[in-house]
Amino acid sequence: MLVYVPPHPLIKHWVSVLRNEQTPCSIFRNAMAELGRLLMYEASRDWLPTVTGEIQSPMSVASVEFIDPREPVAIVPILRAGLALAEHASSILPATKTYHLGFSRDEETLLPTLYLNKLPDTFPEGSRIFVVDPMLATGGTIVAAVNLLKERGIGNQQIKVICAVAAPPALQKLSENFPGLHVYTGIIDPTVNDKGFIIPGLGDAGDRCYG
Ligand code: PRP
Repeated sequence: MLVYVPPHPLIKHWVSVLRNEQTPCSIFRNAMAELGRLLMYEASRDWLPTVTGEIQSPMSVASVEFIDPREPVAIVPILRAGLALAEHASSILPATKTYHLGFSRDEETLLPTLYLNKLPDTFPEGSRIFVVDPMLATGGTIVAAVNLLKERGIGNQQIKVICAVAAPPALQKLSENFPGLHVYTGIIDPTVNDKGFIIPGLGDAGDRCYG
């Protein structure tokens, strides 16, 4: 499994804004969306197929290269906080479909429960799928989400996970279960406490986005 922390000062900046407990809800949500945009830029590098051709500019004929709209690309945000991370990330891709998943984590057992599943029964052949969830803590939620894709015949190498903060337990579970998967994260934090919060982390990303 590849875990990539893009070494970009803007990524560090937005992670720092998110970390600050003084950051109010609306700015937190915007920071999350900006971070998502930057991580999507990095994650889509060398992964989106293009078509080439020629086009008439106002001055002359020019060689051009566009994202191939025939190649299926999907975004799977995990509610709630994944909505904020996916907001600008989805707008920079020219042609995508968005399929929402809703998971809530039990505060005692830390196990995820699926409450919304808008995945199609099957994905088009060769689909590339970005799974977007800000926090990878114990890893229960992201493993359950990727398993739903696997049940639909999606291979590990067709999936990229985009998150704001990843913790070692989640990364270990992902690498054990899904070799070949790629994870793009704003930062890797050292630990998860016994209540399932990433330390130092951002706090509860869903509550900080939506109150
Ligand atoms: C948070 C977070 C992840 C999950 C991570 O969501 O956004 O989805 O917990 O935890 P895990 O790696 O231990 O499974 P939460 O369940 O709090 O839902 P919310 O986004 O609606 O607040």
